[in-house]
Amino acid sequence: MNKNLRKTVIAGNWKMNNTRIETKKLISELIPLVKDASCEVIIGVPFTNLETAIEMTKDTNIKVAAQNCHWASSGAFTGEISAAMLKELGVEYVILGHSERRQYFGETSLTVNQRLRAALDNNLKVIMCVGESLSDRESGITQNVVAIQTKIGLSNITKQEMKDIIIAYEPVWAIGTGKTATSDQANEVNKYIREVIASIFDKETADKTTIQYGGSMNAKNADELLSKEDIDGGLIGGASLKSEDFSKIVFATK
Ligand code: 13P
Repeated sequence: MNKNLRKTVIAGNWKMNNTRIETKKLISELIPLVKDASCEVIIGVPFTNLETAIEMTKDTNIKVAAQNCHWASSGAFTGEISAAMLKELGVEYVILGHSERRQYFGETSLTVNQRLRAALDNNLKVIMCVGESLSDRESGITQNVVAIQTKIGLSNITKQEMKDIIIAYEPVWAIGTGKTATSDQANEVNKYIREVIASIFDKETADKTTIQYGGSMNAKNADELLSKEDIDGGLIGGASLKSEDFSKIVFATK
């Protein structure tokens, strides 16, 4: 089965949640709960908690992600953080192109691509998010939207570099709404994204690419979603803030 060709990855996207004290509590709960996981486990924490998270997880199976990085290596970009700054802290992953960044902070597929280039050039691994809005879906253009986001996001990336890139399919209408895509809907789009990756590179590269689903994934629906052929993990928002729920999702992977 092709699923065996790729790693399964469960990543928590904490978004703008958790102070340092709350971070310490959540990570101390998580460490014993997920230590026997068979999948890769990542937590995406706010910039201010990266150092704490890296220090606390250094002898564990939990990896740490930042939630964004800038494309320039340095310069007059007030409020921004460079990929090199993340790398220096010991960050392993960076989440790029999340729909909340696209929606509220003017992120475009072009700037996602620039950030992705900077991340790879600094030896960071990337979780690149794509996904359609409700009106895109209702207009029947889901495939067009995810294809454009994937193609532009991955432009000028080599197939060798794809080993450091995870794609997260996150339909905007399913994020934080409690409205999950059905496992068939999610699998259908993930499968389509894999075809797009095959068209950019080749089938072998596509078969090896981890494609997660994100959007109201929780301890109850994770089993069903993760059993699908083209769903290789999850990017979890709300449920990643509760250690028990997040670990249930981690162990829902086969
Ligand atoms: P929820 O799991 O809260 O719907 O968020 C999903 C998400 O945006 C993860 O990046």
